[in-house]
This record gives sequence, structure tokens and C-alpha cells, in this order.
Amino acid sequence: MSAKKLYIETYGCQMNVADSELIVSLMAADGYVLCEDVKEADVILVNTCSIRENAEQRVRGRLKLFGSMKRKKNGLLVGVVGCMAQRLKEELILQEKSVDVVVGPDQYRLLPELIRHAESGNPVVQAILSGDETYDDIEPVRYDSNGISAFISIMRGCQNMCSYCIVPYVRGGERSRNPETIYSEISALKENGYKEITLIGQNVDSYNYNGFRFHELIAGTARRFPEMWIRFSTNHPKDLSDELLKTMAAFPNICRSIHLPVQSGSTTVLKRMKRGYTREWYLGRIEAIRRLLPGCSVSTDVMTGFCGETEEEHQETLSLLETVSYDFAFMFKYSQRPGTWAARHLQDDVPEEVKIRRLNEIIELQGKISGRVKKLDIGQIYDVLVEGVSKKNANEFFGRNQQNKVVVFPDSELRKGEFVKVKITGSTPATLKGTLL
Ligand code: SAH
Ligand code: SF4
Ligand code: F3S
Repeated sequence: MSAKKLYIETYGCQMNVADSELIVSLMAADGYVLCEDVKEADVILVNTCSIRENAEQRVRGRLKLFGSMKRKKNGLLVGVVGCMAQRLKEELILQEKSVDVVVGPDQYRLLPELIRHAESGNPVVQAILSGDETYDDIEPVRYDSNGISAFISIMRGCQNMCSYCIVPYVRGGERSRNPETIYSEISALKENGYKEITLIGQNVDSYNYNGFRFHELIAGTARRFPEMWIRFSTNHPKDLSDELLKTMAAFPNICRSIHLPVQSGSTTVLKRMKRGYTREWYLGRIEAIRRLLPGCSVSTDVMTGFCGETEEEHQETLSLLETVSYDFAFMFKYSQRPGTWAARHLQDDVPEEVKIRRLNEIIELQGKISGRVKKLDIGQIYDVLVEGVSKKNANEFFGRNQQNKVVVFPDSELRKGEFVKVKITGSTPATLKGTLL
């Protein structure tokens, strides 16, 4: 009998991308081979996100399609894993007729066995959160990688309990991974030609392995792998320390880029969000970044239309965007998530059309700011890690600089995985353009 084929689709954040790499590894150990064409699959897995209602809607759309495929292919199994699986558990089986297996983020070791159970015709659900699972010992299969940069999950869960957020409920409490296993994973990546790693977690600043803290982890990583670029995400403003910024400044291979989600520019909104900082505290952190790490890019996440947000509070977000002058921002409108503190205690009272209008104002302003910030790069010389051929022009190549900005430049050949020096000569809304030095 030929090997069974697994098809996997991933939604949501980088943590889910990293989890899918673990899942493929666990399934491969059970004899499955990965396929790229869903039509060939014996098992379809959908790794899901619950962060906003529309993230869940997208998955439900896919499940309808997979349901119609099941009717035509005997024995095809559909599994839902990840955050929606954890949030909805049995409900998912009842609501979505196509689903055979539901497995939450801390139960992936059981996946092959649960799929075997489901093959007998009974749907299975396994969604118990764990206090200590970190999948330390499992080597992820980097099946969708460019072979140059890799994401490494250094912690799981989150317990910040921001009032709007579903993550603590679907990912469980925070746990940090043993640094030795992180180093050995990076070492293996290095041997395989990788040049850049991004350490990921919902709040990397609170990484803590028996007292070993995040700034020590990145110093240890930077020292052990001086020829690699090191990135990390996401930092939390309330925990971003000067110690971390000074550690970054001390190592040239720690990239000059920080993603620091602000959510709102208004202290009163931040209080309702339970973010644990004020506008002034946040701006103080930005000032510390500018002082200790000149040339560091700063990006953010902003959410508009949170419970009770007034026009004045919205204006404060716009003015904060101006003051900080972010290189880049992810912008969202508030989506109430069942069971969160906000859903239980606050009114989702900003009308949809107001949310949309405010979001558009934010997007428009940030577009102007990003354009302005990019112009400041013209004339600068950057190290760029080359990743591939430009989609628009086969004679042009692209990579990213330490500030995490895409740089496009002409060259005689593709030097994938090499660090080159590029002088910036212009910019488009999405990229910087330059010439090789
Ligand atoms: N741990 C990170 C963010 C994780 S979720 C942090 O604390 O910053 C990514 C982004 O999704 C958040 O920064 C926030 O802007 C957005 N988000 C989270 N919950 C949301 C909700 N209920 N509605 C809309 N956007 C949300
Ligand atoms: Fe959600 Fe807040 Fe945790 Fe980020 S820090 S994942 S927003 S609870
Ligand atoms: Fe979504 Fe879960 Fe990540 S809710 S943002 S996939 S942790």
C-alpha cells in the first residue's frame, strides 16, 4: 500500500505556521507524506485562527468546500486543528458536517492516533490545554520555507489577558522552551544553509526559562551564531526593557527592527483593553528605542472601534501614529470574541460604519506615513539578505534589510542566501529600490 497523503492549510499567525511544521513532522513519523494538491489528499488538516470573526468565517468557507470533496472521495478525512478547534471543541463537529477530527494546539502528539480512531467512522475531539507542553523534542519539517529564513517558536501561550483577546483562552498559559533545544534547532538550521532566524512568541519579552530571560536568550543566540541574522516577534510595550534594547545594540547580527503593537493611542482605551501601559509609557518606550538603537525600524498593530471608543479617543490614535511615525502597521477593526473579558463586561457599541470609517482614516494616514518614512531611506546603504527573484522583473532580485524592509535591486545572477550591500535609490509603496555596491 502506498503512503497516505496529508494536505495541510494554515491560517493565523506565525505561531500557527510553526505549529503546522510540527504537525507535519509528527504525521511524517507516522508514515504520512505531504502533498501540495488537495485533490490527492487522504487527510486534510486545517490549522485555524480565532483572533477575529472573519478569520473563523474563512475557515468555515474552506470546510464547506472540503465537505463537497468528501462526498466524492470515500475515506477522505478532514481535521480542524489550532485555535478554532480549541475554542469550539465538540460544537465544531455539530456545526460543520465535514469535520471528522478536532484537535487543540496542545494535543498534536495525539494526532496520528486520533486520525486512526476517526477512520473507523466516529468523529473525535481532543482539546485539553496543557501547562507544560512545548514540543521541545520535535524537529519541525520546514516544508514551505525559502531555505534561508526560519521561524522558531520559543514559547507557547499567553497570560496577559488583554480584555479583547481570545489567545489566552485558546492557547493556554505561558510556557517557555528550554534554550538548549532552541540553540540546537538553530544549529541544525545553520548546517542546512539558513541565514536568518526569527524567535517567535505572543510576548517574547516575558520569555523565562527557570529565570533565564529573553535578553539573555538573544545574547546567547547572537553570540553562538554570529554569521546569522536574528529577529524576534512580538514584543509587548509593558515589558520592553532598556536591558533588551542595550543587548540588541551590543550585537550587530540582531536585526534593527521591533514590532511593538500599540492597539490604541488613548490611555483610557488602553485601560479598557487591559494592556497594562499608558500612551505616555508607550511613547517613552519609543523614545528609548530611538535613543538606544538609532536606525531601528518600528512597526505596530492598531485596533479601532473598541468598546466605548469616542471620536476623541480615535483622534488620539491618529495623533500617536503621527508622533511615532511607524515604518509599517497592521490595522484591524475590533471584533468581539465570545468569552473574553470585553465580551462579558463591555458593550461592543461602536457602530460598524463608524468602525469602518475610523479604520479607513487610520489606513490612509499610515499609508502617508509609511511613504514618508521610506523616502528617508533614499541614499542609505543597507546590508540585504538576498531571498529570490523579483516577481515583476526577472533581472531583479529581492531581499530584506535588517529593518525588515523589502529591497529590490538588479544583479547579474541570483545570490540567494548571500548578504549584499545595496544603496537605496527610490521607493514604491511596498518596497525600496536600489543598486548593488
Ligand atoms: N501578542 C500580540 C498580538 C497577537 S494578536 C500582542 O499582544 O501584541 C495580533 C493582533 O490582532 C493584535 O495585536 C491586535 O491588534 C489584533 N487583535 C487581537 N484581538 C482582536 C480582536 N478581538 N479584534 C480585532 N483585532 C484583534
Ligand atoms: Fe492577546 Fe494580549 Fe496576549 Fe497579545 S498579549 S496574545 S493581545 S492577550
Ligand atoms: Fe490566531 Fe491563534 Fe495565532 S487565534 S493569531 S492563530 S495564536
